[in-house]
Amino acid sequence: MYISGIGRTEFGFSKQSLPQLIYKAIYEAIKDSPISIEQIDAIFVSNFLSGLCDNQLHLNSIVSSLLPELKIPIIRIETACSSGATALYQSLISMPHYRNVLVVGVEKMTHVDNIKLTGHIASASDRTLDQEQGLIFPANYALIAQQHFQRYNSTHEDLVLISYKNHQNANLNPLAHFNYKKVTMEMIENAPLVAAPLTLFDCSPISDGAAALVISDKRTSSRDIEIIGMGIGTDFISLSQRKELTSFEATKIAAKKAYDMAKVGPEDINVAELHDCFTISELISMEDLGFCKPGEGKYLVREKRTMIKGDIPINTDGGLKANGHPMGASGISQVYEIVMQLRKEAGKRQVQNANLGLSHSLGGIGGTSVVHIFRGE
Ligand code: COA
Repeated sequence: MYISGIGRTEFGFSKQSLPQLIYKAIYEAIKDSPISIEQIDAIFVSNFLSGLCDNQLHLNSIVSSLLPELKIPIIRIETACSSGATALYQSLISMPHYRNVLVVGVEKMTHVDNIKLTGHIASASDRTLDQEQGLIFPANYALIAQQHFQRYNSTHEDLVLISYKNHQNANLNPLAHFNYKKVTMEMIENAPLVAAPLTLFDCSPISDGAAALVISDKRTSSRDIEIIGMGIGTDFISLSQRKELTSFEATKIAAKKAYDMAKVGPEDINVAELHDCFTISELISMEDLGFCKPGEGKYLVREKRTMIKGDIPINTDGGLKANGHPMGASGISQVYEIVMQLRKEAGKRQVQNANLGLSHSLGGIGGTSVVHIFRGE
């Protein structure tokens, strides 16, 4: 199966409505693909919060209203922050029935008051075990960071380096949320605390945006990128139910499935997009995906190996940290970036000799994890 077209909007604050964001991403993806909108057989729409933020559900029907001539199957997918990656997974599962499908993800969050929005985001955690205890998302990931620091002697300075790298990469990405912002190490080191040890610059921002992909069962042009591996893993929804907090079991399961299907290993990957909703999850995900042993992610960071010019560049678009995190769209925009890299169209942030790419997306606090592997020409 092949990705024959990609499209996205800018991430960040947007005055556009949900339907306008969706339309723009679809328009860009179709413009980028040899496949026309009339050739699309089905659409998968991913979104997490529009019910809570806008009292707008039934997004599949919204998409149908935007494309009234089609009357094709359109299905909404939700797995919290990994909704976009799960929609791609589901579209691939459906491919024996279709020739071309479209995957589009959207989120609009910046218009909602931050306290209210933090509550809405917490709906991805367990109501009784987490939400009623006040365990909001930054606090969950802060607990994970505390445990990782204690067990492996990783430090907050490692997270500062991850944040700095991702902000630098976003400066090279014109569509990124923080493309405009010049961030220094001093700004990150002196940032206000959000949930100890995590500070403002450890958190992904609140972003609006949409992204879309055209998937085809056969190669349509020399710019197509092949999808060679996919896997989903799941786990308990609440950290309080897990055996350990310093890794995500769901990612290890998803990665094994994807590597086995692709017949490659972590050492073969040239460029990766990892779910860095908080900087600690980039560190842990490197370990869970096998880029290094458990507890050794800090060395990849300290030795600059995850930078664009390193041997395993991670989050070249700025990651969720600085490209932005419009949750329903994030998993799809990660794939957008991998396609740009494997097509050698990533401009100033191009990784040299990138042939195999990987995308990784977490839902909630690792209750869902989705991994895809891609091959260029
Ligand atoms: N990283 C860096 N800078 C950020 C930022 C972030 N995550 N979020 C906001 N800022 C900056 C803004 O650009 C603004 O800078 P300026 O004064 O130079 O313009 C400043 O901080 C204040 O912005 P504001 O929107 O008022 O921030 P806030 O305090 O309302 O929100 C957080 C900050 C961290 C609470 C918010 O971004 C957040 O909740 N992030 C986590 C989202 C989340 O949980 N996602 C799910 C992950 S699974």
